[in-house]
Amino acid sequence: MDRVPARPFRSRDWFADPARSDMTALYLERFMNYGLTPAELRCGKPIIGIAQTGSDLSPCNRIHVELAKRTRDGIIAAGGIPMEFPTIPIFENCRRPTAALDRNLAYMTLVETLYGYPIDAVVLTTGCDKTTPAGIMAVSTVDIPAIVLSGGPMLDGWHDGELVGSGTVIWRSRRKLAAGEIDEEEFLARATDSAPSAGHCNTMGTASTMNAVAEALGMSLTGCAAIPAPYRERGQMAFETGRRIVDMAYEDLRPSKILTREAFLNAIRVVSAIGGSSNAQPHIMAMAQHAGVALDMSDWSTHGYDVPLIVNMQPAGKYLGERFHRAGGVPAVMHELAESGLLDTSCLTITGQSLGDNLTGRVTRDREMIRTLDAPLMEHAGFLVLKGNLFDHAIMKTSVISDSFRARYLSTPGAENRFEARAVVFDGSDDYHHRINDPALGIDERCILVIRGSGPIGWPGSAEVVNMQPPDALIQQGILTLPTLGDGRQSGTSDSPSILNVSPESAVGGGLAWLRDGDMIRIDLVAGTCDALVDADEIARRKTEPAPPIPPSNSPWEELYREKTGQLAQGGVLDFAVKYRGIAAKTPRH
Ligand code: FES
Ligand code: MG
Repeated sequence: MDRVPARPFRSRDWFADPARSDMTALYLERFMNYGLTPAELRCGKPIIGIAQTGSDLSPCNRIHVELAKRTRDGIIAAGGIPMEFPTIPIFENCRRPTAALDRNLAYMTLVETLYGYPIDAVVLTTGCDKTTPAGIMAVSTVDIPAIVLSGGPMLDGWHDGELVGSGTVIWRSRRKLAAGEIDEEEFLARATDSAPSAGHCNTMGTASTMNAVAEALGMSLTGCAAIPAPYRERGQMAFETGRRIVDMAYEDLRPSKILTREAFLNAIRVVSAIGGSSNAQPHIMAMAQHAGVALDMSDWSTHGYDVPLIVNMQPAGKYLGERFHRAGGVPAVMHELAESGLLDTSCLTITGQSLGDNLTGRVTRDREMIRTLDAPLMEHAGFLVLKGNLFDHAIMKTSVISDSFRARYLSTPGAENRFEARAVVFDGSDDYHHRINDPALGIDERCILVIRGSGPIGWPGSAEVVNMQPPDALIQQGILTLPTLGDGRQSGTSDSPSILNVSPESAVGGGLAWLRDGDMIRIDLVAGTCDALVDADEIARRKTEPAPPIPPSNSPWEELYREKTGQLAQGGVLDFAVKYRGIAAKTPRH
């Protein structure tokens, strides 16, 4: 029995337009050279894209090269025609000057692919940090049925009987190296042991966070995010995802029906509960912008800050991805939140059911890993949003703040909560690395390390550099951390409570541009303020001085990116692009 799609498939315009049979022949013929038949392509089945993010250059997502076979099987079993195509590689750890440049590039190229080819619906293969937001941003612009298939984290890493997690082990081992506790060989051994299999980072870094966010938004099948890449359930999830996307094509279940403000607020709450990456802030803002959803920085304070940390996973907690999956993964976390009324369970999801329906019975099996809201790992664990004379917006990830620091600076309002520190200012990370151990800087425990020139325009792209380590001499004295502040980002695997994602950045005239070494900075976390104690006349005078240097653009995309990209507080999107939404409704001309 023939199924009738809720709205005609757009691929019909390529393969079955009676007015242009001359063009139809041209469109059809080259697909024959790998064995498709005209009959198949003209019979009215939906064409399902598989946006392949895996490659040798994208090792975190390389599992999808294999997994796509199961996704295809699911698509074919459900009566669709799979068409796999590559996206540009994104590899967080290796891409210079930063993979952040690639999110918007992947977004824009994916939009063009989905819009300009006969694709009726798409499976977004995700994993490494930016692959998830880039895909969701793109399908929001195009607005065809879409589903997120995570590749899953690596297996847990072990070294000398201890869990070693992606990224987190690097930050911790760097401190040990500086303190003289380990040598370089041991450093390398710890790093490689943290990566025992295919998959993305096994900590609650940006990859695990963004895949959890996709699930929280209702864009993945229930339980998809946390399944480790090598587990058999991952292949089964790929098959079920393939099946489901075909039904979604017939139902015309598009992202615009799923990505509502309520769905984004749910995602913000989930980020707090899992101790998610500080990169979730710009990525969620970016996805909301492209979805046409009004979200601003105050939503992170109002809806996210008070949510407790209930997931015991590095860097905020102890464990890694395998245990998180076995404990029930994202559905079990959302089940806890829903029980306490902290989620809008009426949100529609890609299953075609409400979030509440999806979560039925998904209670955790492991209370050491996923706590209750009554007995969490930490109360009020969301991001703090700060402002002041140096910037309009910055965030601080509070789930990695130590108990003693929290008791001292984040308890009751009042002057005793404030702290002041002397600024030591670096112009980008080269400057930091060259000078951090220079005794002439006189860095001691009363200093705050500041980095500028590391935002979207300054770097360009915005770099993960704000979690700066103190000078070796301080680490050797046992001072392992100093407060840090900057207009860049930091790795989601970092355990540093930096003040970061500062907007506007110094390169566009933000306050960090006029900050000078030796200025005192006053921070009041309870009031949400961060100010340099410099009077207005002096600020005005400094603004007449030359701005800090930024490096030239070295590639065409760097130049275009700098011209068109906004600040991190608004998601760092290509500003002109957000006005394009739902473009699949307008079929491109022949
Ligand atoms: Fe790719 Fe972490 S570096 S997932
Ligand atoms: Mg990262």
